[in-house]
Amino acid sequence: MNKNVGKAPPGAEGVITRGKTASNRLRRVDIFLLLYARELLTPPAPFNAKAFVVDLGYGEEATTVIEMASRLRAVNPHIPVLGVEIDPKRVNNALPYQDDYTQYRLGGFNLPLLPGESARIIRAFNVLRQYPEDEVLPAWHTMAQSLADNGLLIEGTSDPYGKIWTANILRRKARTLVYEGLLFSTNFRWGFSPELFQPVLPKNFIHRMQEGEPIFHFIAAWKQAVQASVAYRQWGLRTWFRQSAVYLNDNQFSIQLSKRLLDKGFLFWRWNQPVPPLED
Ligand SMILES: C[S@@+](CC[C@H](N)C(=O)[O-])C[C@H]1O[C@@H](n2cnc3c(N)ncnc32)[C@H](O)[C@@H]1O
Repeated sequence: MNKNVGKAPPGAEGVITRGKTASNRLRRVDIFLLLYARELLTPPAPFNAKAFVVDLGYGEEATTVIEMASRLRAVNPHIPVLGVEIDPKRVNNALPYQDDYTQYRLGGFNLPLLPGESARIIRAFNVLRQYPEDEVLPAWHTMAQSLADNGLLIEGTSDPYGKIWTANILRRKARTLVYEGLLFSTNFRWGFSPELFQPVLPKNFIHRMQEGEPIFHFIAAWKQAVQASVAYRQWGLRTWFRQSAVYLNDNQFSIQLSKRLLDKGFLFWRWNQPVPPLED
């Protein structure tokens, strides 16, 4: 099925895709950012007032941008937020919601930034899943060109309501893009099983659930970890989830064993897979 629904405006890299979004769909992404990347959001973050948190491909409505701005402003009232969309109609729909610290601009993976501006965080959710797999790495590279040093790219896929999702976490370090890991997020509304994450794997993994692929072996090991820790189920899904992470970490996979993350349903596989360097 071709998910591209239109040609990009001149100069913007990418294509217009379906624009479905929903209120609170990315609420847990904001919660994760506040836990994992707080030092990028709050003073004395090493950025100037023109280093945006970018919501790239926000969709038919500006909802996720407005919600993100409001959540992040609870810890930093002046955080600059930029919504970027490749569909001119969707940018027009969002313009009435601009405020002193929130802007909306037409653009693509090559962010529409002005001289002196940069991105401290780029969130691109439910965007790359609509592209061919071989366009993922070039898109990461293009987005990373706009990241400030130490800036973070969180690129993922969710179900329609954001109950369950996964995301690639990458960080710009000088001229390189470092893959920090793959994040699994659940609010436990659908129970808990590693298989539940398969339909929401990011594009670079969704077609790779086969023998020999790291993601296949990770999910298999997680299933085994869930079985091995089944005794913890009686204390609830969160405890079981947390214990499966401990087991995985004891058995060859590096998991961030932060109670604050695990108790909220975030399992972060710290997996430094190599990413080719950025081109000049
Ligand atoms: C399914 S919506 C996702 C909306 C929102 N991020 C969410 O998760 O609810 C995908 C949006 O990404 C936009 N998009 C696709 N490629 C893009 C690109 N290269 N640059 C900016 N926006 C893009 C599409 O036009 C579409 O509106």
